[in-house]
Amino acid sequence: MKVRPVILIHGGAGNYKRFAAEDLEKRRVWLKKAAAEGFDALSSKSALDAVEVAVKVMEDSGVFNAGLGSVLSLNKKVEMDAAIMDGRDLGVGAVACISGFKNPVSIARRIMEETDHILIVGKAAERLAEFFGFKRYGNLITEAKLKRFERVYNDWIEGKRSRMLKIRKMILERKGLFDFTGTVGAVAIDSEGNVASAVSTGGYWLKLPGRVGDVPLVGCGFYADNNGGAASATGIGELIARLTLSKFCCDLMRAGVSAQKACEAAIDLITNKFGKGNAGIIAVDDKGNWGFAFNTAGMGRALMASGMDEPAVAIFDEEPFPTLS
Ligand code: GLY
Repeated sequence: MKVRPVILIHGGAGNYKRFAAEDLEKRRVWLKKAAAEGFDALSSKSALDAVEVAVKVMEDSGVFNAGLGSVLSLNKKVEMDAAIMDGRDLGVGAVACISGFKNPVSIARRIMEETDHILIVGKAAERLAEFFGFKRYGNLITEAKLKRFERVYNDWIEGKRSRMLKIRKMILERKGLFDFTGTVGAVAIDSEGNVASAVSTGGYWLKLPGRVGDVPLVGCGFYADNNGGAASATGIGELIARLTLSKFCCDLMRAGVSAQKACEAAIDLITNKFGKGNAGIIAVDDKGNWGFAFNTAGMGRALMASGMDEPAVAIFDEEPFPTLS
């Protein structure tokens, strides 16, 4: 049975109300480009190629918290996580705590296709990436990021941020312990009815070195099964992982719930458990319907489906965006 090809991507859920107009505009431009290039791959190749291409474009943009735009951990280093999943055979590849490369999603894909494992972390993942022929990239830590780090760190230490309070206490008690020391995703369905999901992130500002979130964990930041659909989550990884949010969404779709209703149920679940302001999710179901939901001020997103002239892009809830029930 032929299905209408669709790609839906996100550039992270979060408090977009704080962003300057030009920053929002940059994100819209890159979301559109990523959806358009992902859709080209969807037309000529597969859902798997489409989600990889779209996530790669966002990793290369430098404007999202993934690849070149990845934020800094508490030791002022970049540690990225990424994953990809093929709904045809439940193939999974993921990397965690990787630095020095600009496209972790493509390394994840090679792990899926060329190893017997699903997740490789840290230095071993970096060595494997070199073995696969990926070039080291030295410019992940920029002056702008270091400046922003100082602001975020000082606000946090002064108690102006409500997150990571246990780590803050630990640092205040043992200064120097760490030597002073957002997310992109895509889901797609191709004309053969194959679904895929991909995610990539730098985690979040000031996370502990070695911390791994939802992104490389199967069923948490991503899931894809031709029998049901594909989902990709964004937000606070520790909360998303506790609820295996992407698998929850895909289980609902497998039970016949539409992509939109499954996304809404996933966001209701995380909101009921942990409150608002922590997550977003996108999905396509196995019939080619798409859905999205978030409990944050916004979620950058773009959609391209056959029959559309160009990708639809939105960040806030009140903006027009093609929505199904
Ligand atoms: N969802 C991204 C992270 O928490 O790492």
